[in-house]
Amino acid sequence: MPDYFSERRLLIDAHLDGIAGHAVSPPSLRPALQAAITSGGKRIRGILTMAVGEAWGVPAPKLLDAAAAFEMIHSCSLIIDDLPSLDDATLRRGSPTIHRQYGEDLAILSAFALLNESYALLARNHGALRPRRWGLPGLIGRVSGAVGWDGTIGGEAVDLHSETATLDFSTLEYIHSRKTGALFVAAGAVGAMLANAPEPGLRSIEAYAKNLGLAFQITDDVLDVVGTSAELGKDTGKDSERLTFVKLAGVEGSRELTGELIETSMKAIEPLGKRGEHLRALALLVRDRTK
Ligand code: IPE
Ligand code: IPE
Ligand code: MG
Ligand code: MG
Repeated sequence: MPDYFSERRLLIDAHLDGIAGHAVSPPSLRPALQAAITSGGKRIRGILTMAVGEAWGVPAPKLLDAAAAFEMIHSCSLIIDDLPSLDDATLRRGSPTIHRQYGEDLAILSAFALLNESYALLARNHGALRPRRWGLPGLIGRVSGAVGWDGTIGGEAVDLHSETATLDFSTLEYIHSRKTGALFVAAGAVGAMLANAPEPGLRSIEAYAKNLGLAFQITDDVLDVVGTSAELGKDTGKDSERLTFVKLAGVEGSRELTGELIETSMKAIEPLGKRGEHLRALALLVRDRTK
């Protein structure tokens, strides 16, 4: 990772460590909660929020609550996604999944705790920055919609309950843009809103993040086939029952598609000019990622 990104990642990790350290929770819940918050990960969604906010001049430390909130929402979605009744995963971020370590009951409770606490962090960040153009109800509504029934949850439901024989590109796009893309769009949009970006800027970021999120998930499908669980820190070959972009377009076709989506995402932020520098670098990082 180039310096900018590894620095942001360290800032987010440290902020999350602080949040976990201060969490008032019963001893029975504490270990699962701590593990869920501090288990690492690439922190791409939090970095996205920060890179967007910084593009409009907000100093990095002032975006950390929101960045941490998106990583907590993301970690929540991973805990749920890994449960036996969903993907039944054994490994996540190089360690046994939260339910394998602490039991399904505490895994589910930790996931809900992360989701609920994330909204307080978003509200606190909005209260500290007070962006003139964007009120708190609109900001919260965007995030809750992104992870609601027409967002992450809807995408996961269709992913799990689709007849693979009849799936096509448009259904796959529905699934990927919701189960993964929606949170990317919210993470970008909140960065722009907190930084008081004007409406056209927010639109550019939404288009950028939508394509970035879709590209990210298609690459995830590719890595599920070509990667090893030692490299990725999670189970591989999990998608064999599902219809993925790899099954429709092959590995090479999927990589081409990712390249096109990344081009489109970079076009969307052309109006930002030089201020979009880190966002362009982030897009290339997503295109070329190997884990
Ligand atoms: C994994 O996301 C789940 C998907 C949406 C593909 P990441 O690859 O960002 O997971 P971490 O946070 O780095 O572990
Ligand atoms: C992850 O989808 C999407 C969410 C967690 C919402 P996948 O099931 O395809 O991702 P991995 O491979 O478990 O990370
Ligand atoms: Mg899944
Ligand atoms: Mg999964």
